[in-house]
Amino acid sequence: MTHRSDVQRQFGRNAQRYVTSHVHASGPSLARMVALAAPEPHWLVLDVACGGGHAALAMASYVRQVIALDVTFPMLQAARAFAVAQGQAHLVWVQGDGEDLPFADASFDLVTCRVALHHFPDPEKAIRSWARTLKPGGKLVLIDNIGPEDEQANVYVNTFETLRDPSHVKLYPPTELVRFLKQANFNVSHTEVLRKSMGFEAWMDRMQVAPEARKQLTAMLWQSPDHARRFLNPQGSGKETTFDLWEGVFLAVKP
Ligand SMILES: C[S@@+](CC[C@H](N)C(=O)[O-])C[C@H]1O[C@@H](n2cnc3c(N)ncnc32)[C@H](O)[C@@H]1O
Repeated sequence: MTHRSDVQRQFGRNAQRYVTSHVHASGPSLARMVALAAPEPHWLVLDVACGGGHAALAMASYVRQVIALDVTFPMLQAARAFAVAQGQAHLVWVQGDGEDLPFADASFDLVTCRVALHHFPDPEKAIRSWARTLKPGGKLVLIDNIGPEDEQANVYVNTFETLRDPSHVKLYPPTELVRFLKQANFNVSHTEVLRKSMGFEAWMDRMQVAPEARKQLTAMLWQSPDHARRFLNPQGSGKETTFDLWEGVFLAVKP
């Protein structure tokens, strides 16, 4: 079984849950993405790993055309149906691998990728592919859940994530993401981190986590060592339990 088929299985069977997910459909990173991109009406935009289509839709009314790409076909079907229901029928939906884009060099004015890079087995290859398809002077807005800088806390948080979703690869600390961007020859002009309070039950429901894994996740959350607990910040109890994830927001420009 390849990693790609793991992703397609996980997201294919949960596609509609990602369309209706509150944390994906709203959240401050959507508005930050638009503000940082400063879109212009003539732009051609690529949204990589579009999921339920929320980033693509947030950008669509500001630019000439958005192409939304995802590796999971049922996700594209669900996102397209959602867009059409919102009266946004003009987006283009493409099945493809965000690590190896099926587009010519220097095609896009803007590439966006929101809350998805942590599923990519080779994020550096992906970012190089995005750089290739941007025009000189083109912008990338990368938004992804980040991991702790502390190595031990990072291992703990990523083990927690993988237990919930076997297609999870890694939450990278911001310094590592910036290094990937610089190695792909981007100028990184803005970095920020946004806190995201997550409903613990909803987070597990979205991936249909089995009962045994739910028990293990609950124990991992509440028994987390201090370094990871500071990051996950569990609160509440029972069905009202919440914890924190953190979104890194990066604006990078192709020279
Ligand atoms: C959490 S969803 C993305 C959310 C969406 N960008 C948003 O703003 O709401 C993650 C998506 O990444 C996609 N994905 C994972 N690996 C991919 C890859 N290598 N190429 C393209 N899409 C990928 C999955 O199919 C899934 O739809």
